[in-house]
Amino acid sequence: MELLKGKKGIITGALNDKSIAWKVAERAIAEGAEVVLTNTPLSLRMGGLQAFADAHGCPVVAADATSLDDLGTLVDQAMEHFGGPFDFVLHSIGMSPNVRKNRPYEALDYNYLGKTLDISALSFHKLLHSLYTRDALREWGSVVALTYIAAERAFVGYNDMADAKALLQSITRSFGAIYGPARHVRINTVSQSPTATTAGQGIAGMEQMLHYADRMSPLGNATADDCADYIVTLFSDYTRKVTMQNLYHDGGFSSVGLTAAQVATFTEEK
Ligand SMILES: NC(=O)c1ccc[n+]([C@@H]2O[C@H](COP(=O)([O-])OP(=O)(O)OC[C@H]3O[C@@H](n4cnc5c(N)ncnc54)[C@H](O)[C@@H]3O)[C@@H](O)[C@H]2O)c1
Repeated sequence: MELLKGKKGIITGALNDKSIAWKVAERAIAEGAEVVLTNTPLSLRMGGLQAFADAHGCPVVAADATSLDDLGTLVDQAMEHFGGPFDFVLHSIGMSPNVRKNRPYEALDYNYLGKTLDISALSFHKLLHSLYTRDALREWGSVVALTYIAAERAFVGYNDMADAKALLQSITRSFGAIYGPARHVRINTVSQSPTATTAGQGIAGMEQMLHYADRMSPLGNATADDCADYIVTLFSDYTRKVTMQNLYHDGGFSSVGLTAAQVATFTEEK
């Protein structure tokens, strides 16, 4: 199948072969898309993205997603490479210095909080602004950002990333209401199951969170590969009228109250 034949886009946030964005890049290319890859200069030195890009013949543009200048250059270079506007963008960027430095939510460092919000949420606004002002996306283009259910419900250990994801989802709706009427561009977030990646590793209790979510999800946790399959459909022409949505891709976790597995656990404990 070549679901994305003739489509072109930017994929951010592929650090290594565990990254959700890495899987999306692989899947999009397999479906016939051309992609421009980007990450921070430091991440490009760390994770092997250049080797992946060389193997697939994709350009790599270094960009810090908190910098409007870098994002402007990224969009300009992608347009130059593609010979004009393109079709899709993946925002797959998240980082919390509070999580990294083990600052608990009740004792946040507010300077770090500013950085968390800038990297993990405002970067999405800056990216959309850079695309919008350059008219860089074709009609019926698609922008997807990754989020987590801690934006809506309290998850111990997810810390200030929960606040960043809530802001990210709000930006999705607000910008979607502008980009839709202006250029028929759709903007959505995908709320993914906990997934074993580098970003996930920093979350306190991540292993338990993975196990809990897997037990609570009728279909089990969605993997990074599953997520890539789903995101490719959102870049395709089959989802043109889906916009401003937070789309759960979590094996059903978000709709569950009590599962048979939980009943069994509590029966054993009684
Ligand atoms: N892993 C999970 O459990 C999970 C669940 C739901 C949503 N998500 C989200 O998925 C997205 C991708 O994360 P992942 O799990 O694949 O981990 P990852 O660590 O592979 O990806 C995070 C990426 O963000 C990039 N990044 C950090 N700061 C940046 C900056 N200033 N500019 C540009 N890029 C920067 C990193 O270099 C890295 O490539 C994130 O938004 C994350 O919050 C992850």
